[in-house]
Amino acid sequence: MTLEIQPTIKNPNLELELSSDKIRYMVQQAVEHIVAHLEQVAEMPAMSNEGGAELSHRLKEAMPEQGTGIETILEEFFNDIVPCSFNTAGPGHMAYIPGGGIVHSAIGDLIANAVNRYVGIWLGAPGMVQLETNVIRWFCDIMGLPKDALGILTTGGSMANFSAIVAARKDKLPENFLKGTVYVSDQVHHSITKSATLAGFPEDNVRSIPSDELGRMRLDGLEVGIASDLHAGFQPFMVVGSAGTTNTGAVDDLQGLAKIAQDKNLWFHIDGAYGAFFMLTETGRKVMAGIEQSDSITLDPHKGLFLPYGTGALLVRDRETLRRSHSSHAEYLPPMQEDANFVDYCDLSPELTRDYRGFRVWLPIKLHGIQPFRDNLQEKIELTHWVTEELRKLDNIEITSEPQLTVMAFHLKLPELDTETLNQLNEKLLELVLAKKNVILSGTTFHGVFVIRFCILSFRTHLDRVQQALEDIKASITELTD
Ligand SMILES: Cc1ncc(COP(=O)(O)O)c(C=O)c1O
Repeated sequence: MTLEIQPTIKNPNLELELSSDKIRYMVQQAVEHIVAHLEQVAEMPAMSNEGGAELSHRLKEAMPEQGTGIETILEEFFNDIVPCSFNTAGPGHMAYIPGGGIVHSAIGDLIANAVNRYVGIWLGAPGMVQLETNVIRWFCDIMGLPKDALGILTTGGSMANFSAIVAARKDKLPENFLKGTVYVSDQVHHSITKSATLAGFPEDNVRSIPSDELGRMRLDGLEVGIASDLHAGFQPFMVVGSAGTTNTGAVDDLQGLAKIAQDKNLWFHIDGAYGAFFMLTETGRKVMAGIEQSDSITLDPHKGLFLPYGTGALLVRDRETLRRSHSSHAEYLPPMQEDANFVDYCDLSPELTRDYRGFRVWLPIKLHGIQPFRDNLQEKIELTHWVTEELRKLDNIEITSEPQLTVMAFHLKLPELDTETLNQLNEKLLELVLAKKNVILSGTTFHGVFVIRFCILSFRTHLDRVQQALEDIKASITELTD
């Protein structure tokens, strides 16, 4: 069959191959908007998502046949679309788990995407892959893991927890693994349960062990749980410690968990998505003693290293466990590296083709060294202690979770009110604080009581904004109780 020659072969459409001048122009336009945006990010409301439904409806459109100029696109994006949001990059963001988003990583992403090399296999870009390996090895050193420990960069903590469970399952259980049981505290992040079910376990096989008054897993409860499961014919294979919990920042007794894991031959995973980078500080090293004994650790650079969203990490003591659980070969792939110095990350992770996420971590650390990260984490610890002491001085405020790292929680406690009324009062208090739009705090329930929590982790949050939060809380209490 002869193919009729299509006109596009002789006259290809070269519109996608931007000229140097066009690239320069577009990047300059983008930079102007980014700089203007970041100059105002601290002054923008902490939360401004009113009208979100109308905006979403307005933005619906059929796929365009014709293009639109970059100027129009950027104007609309920065003026209309971005402002309708929680200002998660601003200093007032002290809800959930902030981070802020250092702009160095955005610059790194631009470069990484512009050069667009293939980093799933070592052969594709050996030097670029090595920079990523350096980052992962630095993380292992921070955590005190042995010198041949390694890991992977993921899109976030959830995916890191997922790969940890898959690695543990393969390492500890037979092919038919449905009797395997995982032990977590009742405060564990829900991504662990989600990961276990994605990894094929019935949800019930995730055993929730009660936490103590600080929110840490009760070791006696863990031992009882394991013993009763063994008795019933289950196969306990994994215990997950939190460092610390999302709810109240509680760090489990990692040394105690390590001992039990060793005695019972369990895989010991630590979910350090929120707290593990505090290992860069002296306080963190004290609170998280025992982390170095784990089999695997989840980290989230997009929290504790202040990166923009999109980067987590899983570290493993024995990299072969990741290979055994994630490696899969195909005829069309080049041979994988035999030398342990040269890593094919597709062999250790669920992903093959992916973004070059190592660069967005490597670049800021290479530019500044690790000291500013350490100093920022230390400052956030001190800010959290400061606000805890200031809140403690207020009438009728009870600190329900003392800070171990940079999460603390409190509530207004009026002696004459029952728990339900008290909870409603505190929900109202949070609403009043949020309405002022200077800060975002979040609410949660701890052991049945509604509490308001601070999580101070954005690199842009400093004393002035925490003072503002305190002022807003005081004013809101007055509004509520007068
Ligand atoms: C303790 C903990 N683990 C896991 C996760 C999930 O991480 P990610 O949102 O990056 O997927 C979070 C997120 O807040 C977390 O706080």
